[in-house]
Amino acid sequence: MQGKLYATDLFPIGQIDHRINSSLAEHMGRSIYGGIYDPDSPLADDAGLRKDVMAAVKELNVPLVRYPGGNFVSSYHWEDGIGPRDQRQQKVDLAWKSVESNQFGLDDFMDWTTKVDAEAMIAVNLGTRGIEDACNLLEYCNLDTDTYWANKRRENGHSEPYHVKFWCLGNEMDAPWQIGHKTAHEYGQLVNETAKAMRSLDPSIKIVVCGSSNEHTPTFGKWETTVLDECYDNVDYLSMHQYYELPSQGTMHHVAKAIRMDQFINSVVALCDAAKATKKSAKTLNISFDEWNVWYHSNEHDAHLKPWQQAPHQLEDVYNFEDALLVGSSLITLLKHADRVKIACFAQLVNVIAPILTTKEGVLKQTIFTPLRDVSQYAHGTALRTSAQSPTYQVPEFGDVPYLDAVTVKNDAHHYTIFAVNRHQTEALNLIVKLNDDRYQETSHLSYSCSDPEFKNSADQAVREENIQDAGQIILKPFSWNVITFTV
Ligand code: AHR
Repeated sequence: MQGKLYATDLFPIGQIDHRINSSLAEHMGRSIYGGIYDPDSPLADDAGLRKDVMAAVKELNVPLVRYPGGNFVSSYHWEDGIGPRDQRQQKVDLAWKSVESNQFGLDDFMDWTTKVDAEAMIAVNLGTRGIEDACNLLEYCNLDTDTYWANKRRENGHSEPYHVKFWCLGNEMDAPWQIGHKTAHEYGQLVNETAKAMRSLDPSIKIVVCGSSNEHTPTFGKWETTVLDECYDNVDYLSMHQYYELPSQGTMHHVAKAIRMDQFINSVVALCDAAKATKKSAKTLNISFDEWNVWYHSNEHDAHLKPWQQAPHQLEDVYNFEDALLVGSSLITLLKHADRVKIACFAQLVNVIAPILTTKEGVLKQTIFTPLRDVSQYAHGTALRTSAQSPTYQVPEFGDVPYLDAVTVKNDAHHYTIFAVNRHQTEALNLIVKLNDDRYQETSHLSYSCSDPEFKNSADQAVREENIQDAGQIILKPFSWNVITFTV
């Protein structure tokens, strides 16, 4: 099979924001307890933070981590997680029906982000709480004043403010399952007032307002329009969330599902631009795609979970190779929208629907780890419009799906990287590349392939990425994720 790829500097999409490689660490399951924080483990440092987890997070090169949720945030009292550990109270977590020990909290998280070289994006509780709490939290994090909450932070050992830049106002507030769920009108008004109050404390912050929790909700579209009508002038990003479900229509449908992400982004960009037009605003609203992933492997196990446990095994999806290709295609899709998607959080990071799984002995890097690491490492610069042509196959949801999915990134004046997926399960794809005026040379080709779509990494066996020596022809192996670099 042959495929052709054309890209030129003349058609840039936009500058890639490294924050599209971000993630989410929610207080749920074993994400924090037994994942990030595990003081009884011999693998933990003096602060109880797992060193092997930190090394894997650093390998993923995650620039920003959203915290503390997710659904968890909507009934969370952040004050419960600060101060001396022996005085912290155990509480119920309404979102996941579990017990929260509060042994890990805001300051512990901020210390951890320093150790893994990441920036924090903090979500505030707009479910059970409101403006005053959001302002107290912002004062605790960012203010240098001689006032109660800023002094509390100092008392807790942090003399300097954290200067957290990104703030999510609530989580999935459109969703009926959200604690404190609101109508679009109520939520939009609350965001507008909260954003104004927070900005008066710290004008440098950037605010993310909740879009729909997924594209299938009955209120999708109307939610965005109503919310943005209330708060457009006071927010900077609109959030999107999307999870891919069980591949009930087979592998070839599953690996095409990033088309859904592409369609969803197009719709949300249109909604943002319609709000901009209605408001006659000079400001363009960008997207924080702050939760996305495949999520279904753990459904059956979790249906039988007993409530009110501490850090149960929950949402511990073990990913296979077809999931890795879908994650790869989704990353390509985010790059194709580099002009508007400026933050994207892979949900989540450790143990809970995550690329990193912990055992007592160490970490397991799941199949999905590789494309995430590659994009974080190689997708720097400007995304270019890329024409990728190849034979196609049919799936009912999308019609004609090309076997080849690809995007080109101009890293700098002399370096380019192509990210490409060959969706064909048995045929290799001979890729003819045309970049600018043809005076380029291939410098490396990383290929990640597996003939079994259901293969899962384990402690004994894992799919490895290989460095291929292409002899004059770029061959994408059947069912593969590829990173090909060029110099000019
Ligand atoms: O990531 C798991 C959950 O998915 C998050 O808590 C919530 O925001 C979403 O529904």
